[in-house]
Amino acid sequence: MLDSCFRRNDGETELKRTEETETIVNKDHLQELLTNVWQKTGYDFREYRRQTIERRIAKRMALLNVADLPAYREILDRDPEEYWYLISELTIKVSRLFRNPYVFEFMDQAIWPELLRPPGADKHLRLWSAGCAYGEETYSLAISILDHMERKKIPLKDYEITIIGTDIDEEALMLARAGQYGPDTVGEVKKRLLDRYFDYKNGYYNIMPVVRKMVTFAVHDLTSPTIMSPPSGVITNYDLISCRNLLIYFAPALQERVLSKLLRVLNPGGYLVLGESEALPPQLSDCLRVFDKRANIYQKMKGT
Ligand SMILES: C[S@@+](CC[C@H](N)C(=O)[O-])C[C@H]1O[C@@H](n2cnc3c(N)ncnc32)[C@H](O)[C@@H]1O
Repeated sequence: MLDSCFRRNDGETELKRTEETETIVNKDHLQELLTNVWQKTGYDFREYRRQTIERRIAKRMALLNVADLPAYREILDRDPEEYWYLISELTIKVSRLFRNPYVFEFMDQAIWPELLRPPGADKHLRLWSAGCAYGEETYSLAISILDHMERKKIPLKDYEITIIGTDIDEEALMLARAGQYGPDTVGEVKKRLLDRYFDYKNGYYNIMPVVRKMVTFAVHDLTSPTIMSPPSGVITNYDLISCRNLLIYFAPALQERVLSKLLRVLNPGGYLVLGESEALPPQLSDCLRVFDKRANIYQKMKGT
C-alpha cells in the first residue's frame, strides 16, 4: 500500500522556497563540483536545492577570494581539508531548543497522552529526531515528554523510551552529546523547564543527566539509498519522527525519496512532524492525514 502513496512528482515542489539567489555558477561546473565532493567524501549534495548550495559555495569562495568555480576546484584539489569546510557550510545547522514552541505545546496536549496509553498497551516508545543538528530538537523531545510524565504522575520506570537524534554531520553530534547550550539557543525554553532540566554554569545551560539518559545520537545520512533507518542496533519502528527544517534544502525528488524512507519506518498511527515552512508533497496524502495544521504534524494512516 505504501508504494502506491509515492507517485512520482514531476511538477514543482509544494515546499516553499526559503532562499532566492542569483545564479552565480555555471550549472555544469556546479554538478561536476558536487560529483567530486561526493566521490571524495561520500557526502552527496547533488540533489539538494540549487539556490542554497550556490549561496553556500559562494560564501566559501568569497572567504577564499576566488572568482569562479574552476578556481575553487583548484583549491579543493590542492587542499583536501577544504572539502570539510565546504561540507560544514552546506549542512546548515541552525536550530534552537523548543524551536517553534507551539509544536511542543501541541505534543504535550495531544500526542504524549496518546502515546502514553493506559496499562496493557505497548510500553516501548520510539522517537526519532532526523537531522538533529547539535541535538537541540532531540533534547526538546526528551524534556517535553519527561515533563509531561512528571506533571501527569506517570512513572518513567513504567515505560521504555528510546529517543534517537541523527544527523549527517559527525562533529555536530559530538557537540550534541555534550548537551551544552548558550543563552541564544534556550530563548524559547520556558523558565520552569530551564530550572528543572538544565544546570546553568559559566554562561552555559547543561542538559541534566535524567534527560541525557533518554537520548542516543548516531550518524545517519537520510539520502543514503541503502540504509532505511539508523545503524543496526537501533529499533526502527517509530511512534514519532520529527524531521524539521531539513527537507527545505532538498530538491523535490529527493524530498519524496527521503519522506518515503521515513514513512516506511513509522508505525501505522505514528506521527510525522515537519518544519514550519515545509509541506507534505500531495502524492503522500493517501498515507498520512493532517493531525494538526499549525504544528505541521501528520499521522500515518493505519493499514498503509
Ligand atoms: C537546519 S538543521 C535542522 C535542525 C532541527 N531539525 C531543527 O528543526 O531545528 C538541518 C540539519 O540537517 C542536517 N542534514 C543535512 N543533510 C542531511 C542528510 N542528508 N542526512 C541527515 N541530516 C542532514 C544538517 O547537518 C543539519 O544539522
